[in-house]
Amino acid sequence: MQVFHTESKIIITCNKRLSPYLQQEVEALGFTPDRVFQTGIELTGTVDDCIALNLNLRCASQVLYLLKSFKAADPKELYDNLVEIEWEKLIDFSGYFSVTSNVNNEHILTPLFANVKVKDAIADRIKSIKGLRPNSGADGNKTVVHLYWQDDKAEIFLDTSGETLAKHSYRKIPGKAPMLEALAASTIIATNWDRNSTFINPMCGSGTLAIEAALLATDKHPGLFRMNYGFMHIMGYDEQVFFVERRKLKDKAKKDITFKIIATDISEDAVDIAQKNAKTAGVEHLIDFSVCDFADTPVPAEPGIVMFNPEYGERLGVHTKLEITYKRVGDFLKQQCLGYRGYVFTGNPDLAKKIGLKAARRIEFYNGKLDCRLFEYELYEGTKRAPIE
Ligand SMILES: C[S@@+](CC[C@H](N)C(=O)[O-])C[C@H]1O[C@@H](n2cnc3c(N)ncnc32)[C@H](O)[C@@H]1O
Repeated sequence: MQVFHTESKIIITCNKRLSPYLQQEVEALGFTPDRVFQTGIELTGTVDDCIALNLNLRCASQVLYLLKSFKAADPKELYDNLVEIEWEKLIDFSGYFSVTSNVNNEHILTPLFANVKVKDAIADRIKSIKGLRPNSGADGNKTVVHLYWQDDKAEIFLDTSGETLAKHSYRKIPGKAPMLEALAASTIIATNWDRNSTFINPMCGSGTLAIEAALLATDKHPGLFRMNYGFMHIMGYDEQVFFVERRKLKDKAKKDITFKIIATDISEDAVDIAQKNAKTAGVEHLIDFSVCDFADTPVPAEPGIVMFNPEYGERLGVHTKLEITYKRVGDFLKQQCLGYRGYVFTGNPDLAKKIGLKAARRIEFYNGKLDCRLFEYELYEGTKRAPIE
């Protein structure tokens, strides 16, 4: 089974509502999606293509390569189909693999049961050919196999990513309520920021938005920070392909920028964490960090964008303190950021109303399971005030 050079269906998964930004990235790499849906993109390619996708994508979660599609009404049919696959050519008998799944079948009450069926089929097949069973377990840091099974339609994939791509490996210290890196990158892409003008991130927390902005501006991709992927544990893997892709990333990454990225937070600890994370990402020298109330954030005369991710608490209940904060965010944008475009990412529409500015766009996202919006404000002399409730 020569998966590295054989074309098949590839599904790139992402968090809900990130696929428009993932699509932009995939197309910029020269791939043409066959289908785009809310949690991913389908295209056609080889596992070598998956290597390039894994190293480049900022908005993705997993890159899945299809091994086989089949009909399976029940667990026995699932097993019988899976045991026919030449697993001995994909997974070393002395190796280790894990199984993940997305299952909706009337016979399966828990996905763990489906995972066990997949494990059994793989291990039984390899044992029958090689005389030994590979180890298996929950760790996703070696070969990972993914089952998609809806009603009687089953698809079995190699998960060429293994651990998720949505974390970008530079955030060693998470801080308080950090944004997922793939979500942060997607929100910045959604602003259409030109990557060449001032980027201000007050309330920076662990620095995710400022760091992602610096990575976008310098064309540095998450693959530069990660040395282990699922594809590395598939038999037939040629490390040269990985090193060539990684070299390409290194060669195109810019060292410097000619504009300012500013990140501030009222918490000294948060700024300390953000600086450490920026250092791990190799962009510390590109970001001006300081500890201050957001309203004292320096705003350069050359405009660009200002992006906030304030706390938003629970949906219901009393938010007097946060209400005042959101109103002050609106005042800051209106009074100190003229000529900029302002953005506020929040999961609380009631608090967002306290900003008191008329949003030009409300871009839909999810943060985990919480419905969120990225509000866009055009900040010019005549920026309209919305009534504050
Ligand atoms: C939701 S967190 C931001 C998380 C960040 N996007 C990340 O990925 O880590 C909100 C941040 O706002 C900061 N903050 C709260 N009130 C502030 C104020 N008045 N001025 C500046 N920062 C403030 C908190 O210290 C916290 O770090």
